[in-house]
Amino acid sequence: MCGIVGYVGGQDALEVVLGGLRRLEYRGYDSAGVAVLSADGVLTVERKAGKLANLEKQIAGLPLPGTLGIGHTRWATHGPPTDHNAHPHLDCSGAVAVVHNGTIENFEVLVAGLELRGHERRSDTDTEVVAHLVEERYAGDLAATVRSICRDLEGSFVLVVAHRDEPDLVVAARRNLPLVIGLGEGENFVGSDVTAFIAHTREARAVEQDQVVEVRRSGVTVTDLAGTVVEGESYHVDWDTAAAEKGGHEFFMLKEIEEQPAAIRETLGGRLQEDGLLHLDELSMSDQDIRDIEQVVIIACGSSYHSGLVGKYALERWARLPVQVEMASEFRYRDPVIGRSTLVIAVSQSGETADTLEAVRHARSLRAKVLAVTNTIGSTISRESDAALYTRGGPEVAVASTKAVMTQMIAMYLVGLYLAQVRGTRDPDEVRAHLADLREVPDLVQEVLDRMGSVRTLAQSLATEDRVLFLGRHVGYPMALEGALKLKELAYISAEGFPAGEIKHGPIALIEQGTPVIVIAPRHALQAKLINNVQEVRARGARTIVIATDGDESVTPYADTVIRIPDTKSLLTPLLTIVPLQVLSAAVAMARGLDVDQPRNLAKSVTVE
Ligand code: G6P
Repeated sequence: MCGIVGYVGGQDALEVVLGGLRRLEYRGYDSAGVAVLSADGVLTVERKAGKLANLEKQIAGLPLPGTLGIGHTRWATHGPPTDHNAHPHLDCSGAVAVVHNGTIENFEVLVAGLELRGHERRSDTDTEVVAHLVEERYAGDLAATVRSICRDLEGSFVLVVAHRDEPDLVVAARRNLPLVIGLGEGENFVGSDVTAFIAHTREARAVEQDQVVEVRRSGVTVTDLAGTVVEGESYHVDWDTAAAEKGGHEFFMLKEIEEQPAAIRETLGGRLQEDGLLHLDELSMSDQDIRDIEQVVIIACGSSYHSGLVGKYALERWARLPVQVEMASEFRYRDPVIGRSTLVIAVSQSGETADTLEAVRHARSLRAKVLAVTNTIGSTISRESDAALYTRGGPEVAVASTKAVMTQMIAMYLVGLYLAQVRGTRDPDEVRAHLADLREVPDLVQEVLDRMGSVRTLAQSLATEDRVLFLGRHVGYPMALEGALKLKELAYISAEGFPAGEIKHGPIALIEQGTPVIVIAPRHALQAKLINNVQEVRARGARTIVIATDGDESVTPYADTVIRIPDTKSLLTPLLTIVPLQVLSAAVAMARGLDVDQPRNLAKSVTVE
């Protein structure tokens, strides 16, 4: 949460920083701000509550010259989202500007000391203490000052600091939260992720825990908190600006939904061998390690949790392993019975979600082997896990996850098949057949996408509803949860997903005349039972909207509306049923006039507990 960017180079810093903030806005949009330092030492700060557009309006036409800049988009934690709480924060003299992502847990103690020593606090934030501490401790070496302050801070932070007396230096520091360096020619960058600088360079370097970065035009130096220089490897980002832009779509989410066939091909690419079997060296596990696994625990948050649930069905069916799926925020505070023979799979698009990261640390402290399934190379979760399987979905900007979830599900199927292949729980021909089915999925998803006109029409009729229920069974159940989550987060409609067999134990009481019930009912062994459930809700007045397989007429008598998907193996149906649910939620939000990419109160990467 919160996006940060820092720049030193030859270009107009304001333009570079604003460009970065536009791409980072998915991380928070409660307020935005920039600080620009001119060559002759004039430090100017502009900040504004609300979305970045408000700031852009405020500074339009203002002269803000400078080739060094820092910027911030905020997801409020300490203090309401007002102008005066917007970053950057300044010290008393106006010489120091600081932006911050995270939470400084001991800030009250630090504030008390600063007030005693005569500093005047101008915001409700924890961040401001850093500016005052720099003011107190700065003696000509900004990096040394930041290192000394970091040693006194508790909590999680990425800090980016500029000082009036250092027109060629931005200092950044990180603990627990993401920070990436962008390496350019005669210019260098820092950002919360590579999208902050992707328009300028595709060479990046990850910053590790408790490191401080000195960014100058001529180069970048990374040290630990003691000041010892740390060498590190850079990497090349294999996608470009176009991937991080809307490409003619009204919202990023719509573009990301459309990108799913290509994203799935990327996830599968290079992982299928010539003999039709799987090749997953990335798991960094020997065949013996894989045979020694006794249980699997999948941990994740939000939509990634739903991908994890789908993974459970696949791993149990194919690899014959007991699988639990748990919300990371719960797992991290329990005493789970896991150990060396447990494979923990942490599913996280961003690789930075605080609860998932802490759950990974918890699992590793209990000696479990942790595999990260993530979209973000070099992310904290991928680095702190024993191995990482990258989903290769490309940048996802919309807060509501679509192609990332899709590629996570593909990754979970691959893990399930690989474990089955190595453990011998499925014979090679069966594994080959399932992989062949997966290879067809991109085309099938495209087919679903091509039919979405009727779903958009349906959305118009749901836009005035205040409650929608989603039902599914087996792998349809996680999709019922995902459909409900999408609708509530995007359209602010009260929506709940249930296993269809459970409704008679309570949820059916919610059904009134006309209550919309969306049923995920592709052709499946449990379909007859699901149809009973559809009849049950219909008999009580529900308006039933059923997602059904082409040619399957068994549901039509009980459906007010049918959404068709092509046929596929029943275990793989979430890859198709999810698509109309995504399109529907976005279309309902649009019909209600809402911002599909930036729903209220949410952020894409949740780096607070
Ligand atoms: C936030 C996002 C969700 C996402 C969840 C987990 O809540 O809004 O879209 O599913 O975080 O994020 P992760 O990056 O760990 O997958």
